[in-house]
Amino acid sequence: MSIPACDSGLPFSSAPQLPNTPFDYTVDLPAHFIEPGIPGSTTQIAVIDHDNTPADNPISDHGATLGRVLFYDRNLSQDLSSSCATCHRQLHGFSDPAIRSIGFSGKETKRHSMGLTNARFYKRGRAFWDEQARSLEEQVLIPVQDAFELGTDLKVIEQRLATLEYYPALFENAFGDDQINSDRISKALAQFVRSLVSFESKYDEGRAAVDRFTAAFPNFTDEENRGKELFLKSNTEGGLACVSCHATEAFVGVHTGPKNNGLDVVTLLDPGIGGIIGADSLDGMFKPPSLRNVGVRSPYMHDGRFATLREVVDHYSDGVEAHQNLSDELKDESGQPLRFTLSETDKQALVAFLHSLTDNKMLNDPKFSDPFRR
Ligand code: HEC
Ligand code: HEC
Repeated sequence: MSIPACDSGLPFSSAPQLPNTPFDYTVDLPAHFIEPGIPGSTTQIAVIDHDNTPADNPISDHGATLGRVLFYDRNLSQDLSSSCATCHRQLHGFSDPAIRSIGFSGKETKRHSMGLTNARFYKRGRAFWDEQARSLEEQVLIPVQDAFELGTDLKVIEQRLATLEYYPALFENAFGDDQINSDRISKALAQFVRSLVSFESKYDEGRAAVDRFTAAFPNFTDEENRGKELFLKSNTEGGLACVSCHATEAFVGVHTGPKNNGLDVVTLLDPGIGGIIGADSLDGMFKPPSLRNVGVRSPYMHDGRFATLREVVDHYSDGVEAHQNLSDELKDESGQPLRFTLSETDKQALVAFLHSLTDNKMLNDPKFSDPFRR
């Protein structure tokens, strides 16, 4: 029998290769995740206050280990062709370089895959571009059953996993006995997804050296510090206030929920939340993703319309459209889209700042990598 190739072209093994002592998934977060960005600030909330971990599913090292194996296991797809990682690739910030991902038997997804970094720190806990799922626990079972993603039945999966020799011990370590059911599959996958936290980027190194995120970082170039200023400062102070929607130092969506960032003047193709709730007043509203690791996850937006960060910055500088549901953060006092008309230097500075959020350590960390790869 020939050995099928995995995404990297390397052969993969039929059983996961795991360390004897599990990796540490319950790491201590740095001080700037525990304190607000500005000491004593009432408007800037600390990252940790946005944690959506439910009381009945805290991350454990064994739970996240099981989640990691499930995440990379092609047995979760109907035809054994794909796993979660087919569309959520570690080196790409757990997103997919393709505009639409190819699921089992070659079917395309409706939207661009989302990066999973910091999904844990979206306070509302809801998942998907249109927030269709109420929690990560609910979300992670959807792709398994989705006709375009993995395309199977949960009962089939439970039975299939029970026939694989490596699962009973993994379930027992994670949950106390070797019973395999979809509730446990969902909990373990959600634990692994929540463990995908980034705090070792160039941004974090600089942040550790100062007492507030508005101070110039000693390890940043002037360009990166200028970009940070543009990102953080309010419109009245000459900034673009990106942080008003990509909030806290996890740079995640604000707790008030989905936004319209003026991609289109009218919603034609994808109503986003409006399609779930069925209200025009919510058309064109989407979950703002965390910008951590954004530098490695092109293309951008729910439809992957922008190929580069420069195109994203051009959009926010001059291209925001007057959609009927355009969020207030991007409107002037008369309700028109804000026009920043940034200089070339400032556009480059903003792009440079976004790249400082790339966390190469996390993107190469073995504990998040494919355990089936030899
Ligand atoms: C065929 C590609 C594909 C596969 C396979 C896939 N996903 Fe996704 N994933 C997507 C796409 C596309 C989206 C965005 C969907 C949307 O919003 O309509 C998404 C969204 C998500 C989100 C939401 C993130 C957020 O911040 O709201 C999570 C979490 C996620 N996937 C986890 C998983 C897990 C766990 C698996 C395996 C059980 C998996 N995905 C399998 C393509 C895929
Ligand atoms: C009104 C709230 C709002 C503001 C202000 C805002 N964004 Fe966004 N941002 C969003 C939303 C919503 C999305 C997702 C939109 C979609 O795909 O439909 C998004 C998406 C993005 C993406 C793509 C992420 C991905 O994974 O595809 C980047 C990059 C980004 N924003 C950067 C910025 C920058 C830089 C600024 C400041 C110039 C900014 N944003 C200001 C709401 C906002």
